[in-house]
Amino acid sequence: MLETTTDEIADNVFRLSTFVPDANIMFNQFVVRGDESLLFHTGPRALFPLVSAAVARVTALDQLRWITFGHVEADECGAMNHFLAAAPNAQVAHGAVACMVQVNDLADREPHPLADDEVVDLGVLRVRSIDTPHIPHGWDAHVVYEETTRTLFCGDLFTRFGESVATTSDDIVEAAITMESFGAPTALTPTTAPMIRRLADLDIDTLALMHGPTYEGDCNKALLELADGYARMLADASS
Ligand SMILES: [Fe+2]
Ligand SMILES: [Fe+2]
Repeated sequence: MLETTTDEIADNVFRLSTFVPDANIMFNQFVVRGDESLLFHTGPRALFPLVSAAVARVTALDQLRWITFGHVEADECGAMNHFLAAAPNAQVAHGAVACMVQVNDLADREPHPLADDEVVDLGVLRVRSIDTPHIPHGWDAHVVYEETTRTLFCGDLFTRFGESVATTSDDIVEAAITMESFGAPTALTPTTAPMIRRLADLDIDTLALMHGPTYEGDCNKALLELADGYARMLADASS
């Protein structure tokens, strides 16, 4: 019996989390609640009944204005059209290239193409979209940063297996590097480490992980260490 838990990880920022034992991994979605609320990740279609009920516990579905996600992948946006059907005022927002190559076709309603660095004003909170092609994978990839709570919704970055608590300040880098031995999920390119180091220039209090706990330690240091790990892996793979 799966269960989706709900935790407020910052003011008006909610983490919805479902541990799937068969896959030994957690699937997290985030609601940024405002006059117009935003959902980051929809979860796969199979989890829609659980995830949509969890969303409705923190924001009315007709208050949901934006649906966005890190990149096109089943766990990130599989239930996109289910949410569009259930939330009449919602629109998918994704990067401009992403809309052109993926979402214009996949979404049942026309998506909003986000420019790099575009800010979506939700009322109290403000979410900035940052293009991160191929971080951690996918041409269309981006992350989003909420400026008031200084939360970086970093999607698959720092992915780990297993069930974990909602928030932690324990190390999240080692588990993420270990995870890479499972099918090499991260696209290692010459721009991988520099792009992650640029994210560390943001003022970040909280890293909202899709597959793992929300991190409230030294977020900038964790990003720099993750970048160093990928730089080492790329160097090893190239030698
Ligand atoms: Fe992914
Ligand atoms: Fe994911």
